Amino acid sequence: MSVKPTVLKLGGSVITNKEKPLTPNMPAIERLTREILRANVSPLVLVHGGGSFGHPVAEQYGIRAGYKDSSQIMGFSKTHQAMTKLNKLIVDSLINHNIPAVEVQPSSCVVTKAGRIQSMEEKPLKKMLEIGFVPILYGDAVLDSETGFAILSGDQLVSSLAIRLDAYRIIVGVDVNGLYTADPKTDPSARLIQHITLEELKNLEHKIEGSKVTDVTGGMFGKMRELTPAVEHGIQAIIVNATKPNRVYKALKGEKVVGTIIEKGETIE
Ligand code: IPE
Repeated sequence: MSVKPTVLKLGGSVITNKEKPLTPNMPAIERLTREILRANVSPLVLVHGGGSFGHPVAEQYGIRAGYKDSSQIMGFSKTHQAMTKLNKLIVDSLINHNIPAVEVQPSSCVVTKAGRIQSMEEKPLKKMLEIGFVPILYGDAVLDSETGFAILSGDQLVSSLAIRLDAYRIIVGVDVNGLYTADPKTDPSARLIQHITLEELKNLEHKIEGSKVTDVTGGMFGKMRELTPAVEHGIQAIIVNATKPNRVYKALKGEKVVGTIIEKGETIE
């Protein structure tokens, strides 16, 4: 591939209504489709989350814990089915706007080992990008060599894809402005961190752990941790609020935008 691909993740909380099971946020999906169309970035890989589609079903059948009894088998099918339903809405929206989207099912090309990606069939994906398609993947129920099956998050997938495809940049669209010094939903003194290196991230995490509060930044540390392997590879990641119009567009265009940039940073020998 001559030009390095951009990997864009759209979080489940952006594209679905998290409060209502199996409810998409169609206005958000349509708006984000138009932003992707306007930005016209190529090559582009899109990964989306599960939101109110994958999560409730996976939880109901305990898919994340692995295969324990046969009653979960239908649960795996239903979790995957929920994800393909959501994926279809996104692929349809993109194709309706003349974006050559093609679904790539993680459950058919990824095997995990204890929940971590062990192998991935990359060839079709690479070929798609070469030709100019926009592959669309998602967090999914996948087969696991140790536990039978597992839930592969879109965040883990994004990081792994970025490394495998030698990505230029990762953009993660969520429902907050980025990484804050505290949870902005509950703490008014929370401040947005616009730029952070891996070392600064580690220090901040220690400081917060020290205060014995688990992830006071509203779940953002988990995301950051998943992005770390790709950032260690020198791939820049940016977290933006995809519920706000034009943030994803600006990030795709490489324009200045409200968000948190995560970079490897200088290594002091
Ligand atoms: C979860 O994907 C997929 C399933 C539960 C099957 P993510 O973990 O990436 O979803 P969001 O973005 O948090 O909703």
